[in-house]
Amino acid sequence: MSGEIIIKKLEAAGLDQVSRFRMKDVGDRPLQQFLRRDALKSGAAHLTTTYVIKRPDAPHVLAYASIMCAEIKLEGAYPIDDKKAAERYSYQPAVRIARLAVCDGCEGLGWGRELVTTVIGVISLSIQPYAGCRFLIVDAKRKSIDFYRKLGFRLLDTEANRALETPLMFMDLKSP
Ligand SMILES: CC(C)(COP(=O)(O)OP(=O)(O)OC[C@H]1O[C@@H](n2cnc3c(N)ncnc32)[C@H](O)[C@@H]1OP(=O)(O)O)[C@@H](O)C(=O)NCCC(=O)NCCS
Repeated sequence: MSGEIIIKKLEAAGLDQVSRFRMKDVGDRPLQQFLRRDALKSGAAHLTTTYVIKRPDAPHVLAYASIMCAEIKLEGAYPIDDKKAAERYSYQPAVRIARLAVCDGCEGLGWGRELVTTVIGVISLSIQPYAGCRFLIVDAKRKSIDFYRKLGFRLLDTEANRALETPLMFMDLKSP
């Protein structure tokens, strides 16, 4: 990774400035817009929680991940092999990466991985001790599937999921 960075929860505009966050690809503009317009309000409403990356000497947000509580329907495509009959339940508890984005010019510095690692840390330290949460999930844009695969996610292996524009990927967060 290049240079020192800070990873923290998104705070009010005076501390974390989002107005310069830019994504080059037109298809990624909703990710740009969400951070600029909605992330703080969505956090205040407890709909998403956003973690950001900044440089220590500047207030501008350079990358972010927003997460929310969720469920995953495994549809028999993945076994929970450390709990007998877990598949009796259609849905299993999860956290969803609702949005993940690195700003234009900051790709490939390891920040996407850092944000996902931070989210896994939050789940294991601040969620799993208090509420069941077995999976980390994401509806992956096709162009980011290999990125998530590299980080240990796998595609839910059903025909319907494979055909989706943003197929569901998941990581099993069972204790080692
Ligand atoms: C996808 C994204 C978040 C990745 O963040 P990043 O900071 O550029 O990725 P990292 O530098 O942390 O990469 C981690 C690893 O994944 C690889 N990787 C990154 N993007 C990749 C891609 N699109 N395809 C394949 N591999 C990729 C890197 O080479 C690196 O591999 P290494 O560990 O062997 O060196 C970022 O490129 C982005 O914001 N893309 C546009 C928005 C988007 O698609 N978001 C995901 C929404 S589902």
